[in-house]
Amino acid sequence: MKIGILSSGGDCPGINATIRGVGKTAIMHYGMEVIGIHSGFVGLLNKDVQVFDERSLSGILNLGGTILGTSREKPFRKLLASGESEKPHVIKQNYEELGLDCLVCIGGNGTQKTAALLSNLGLNVVGVPKTIDNDVWGTDITFGFDTAVNIATEAIDRLHSTASSHKRVMVVEVMGHHAGWIALYAGMAGGADVILLPELGYNIEKVNEAILDRAHRGKPYSIVVVGEGISTPNKKRPADYITKAIEEATGIETRETVLGYIQRGGNPSPFDRNLATRLGGHATELISKREFGKMVCMQGDKVSSIPLSEVAGKLKLVTRDNDLIIQGGRMGVTFGQE
Ligand code: F6P
Repeated sequence: MKIGILSSGGDCPGINATIRGVGKTAIMHYGMEVIGIHSGFVGLLNKDVQVFDERSLSGILNLGGTILGTSREKPFRKLLASGESEKPHVIKQNYEELGLDCLVCIGGNGTQKTAALLSNLGLNVVGVPKTIDNDVWGTDITFGFDTAVNIATEAIDRLHSTASSHKRVMVVEVMGHHAGWIALYAGMAGGADVILLPELGYNIEKVNEAILDRAHRGKPYSIVVVGEGISTPNKKRPADYITKAIEEATGIETRETVLGYIQRGGNPSPFDRNLATRLGGHATELISKREFGKMVCMQGDKVSSIPLSEVAGKLKLVTRDNDLIIQGGRMGVTFGQE
């Protein structure tokens, strides 16, 4: 069999470990041919590919980013909007001309939706969930998330000393798109006093009361972690809006830090390397059994699979019954609700 691998959407640590997991399993265990497709679905549109062999897959397990490059190309966007676009048919034709028996799509929500549509078009597709946001439906965790939480937690740890020295409030904005997984996990791991999640909403007066209450109880500094997807008046940048609102209401010096893309940079954590390796290996096993139209997923510590049709178009969001929210609330962490 000949399989093609692509990575699509935002990059994150662990993609290369997945490429290695798929490629080495395919070549060494199943005797398959493997090609890498550059820049996500753009590479399929342009037949921009490279042949993988064992040597070209060495030394990439610990590398951040993706050696194949990525893009946010959504080949069905125009077709879904206006009913006509040649791109899906160009992709199918190139898939056939490249002699592929299967396409492995490493990506987040958008990628898995494209994978499901390509599967409906008759391509043999297997999806591997990827994103620091941890918001892909159908899998308990995605690789990239653990590394991002490690990076964000280390940054939050560093802010305690400067906040304490200046008796300031430090506002940290983390990534996560519409999901608050990074804010919740890094906020709790970093000992934040206030954590604002897109899913829960918040009342800024409650936030300010909590910070003043801390000051009155002899806690002169606070750490506030906000997800980039929280709602703000006129869609202001969350860190900017929250920082100004707190300082104006409490009179306490408040400063902001936006972590941004460093949460997606650098080498994957050991946890993410092993998660990505396992998912890559199981994806190849599905291909060997000709089980297409599925996405590999984590159910607890078990690797399983779920039809792409059940994943497409859905988000896995934080719910207020999450144990970290319950336990944090009992310990005095403010999540900003009424
Ligand atoms: O999906 C991962 C992510 O980092 C989100 O957390 C963030 O909102 C988005 O990508 C940024 O997109 P881009 O890389 O296109 O700026």
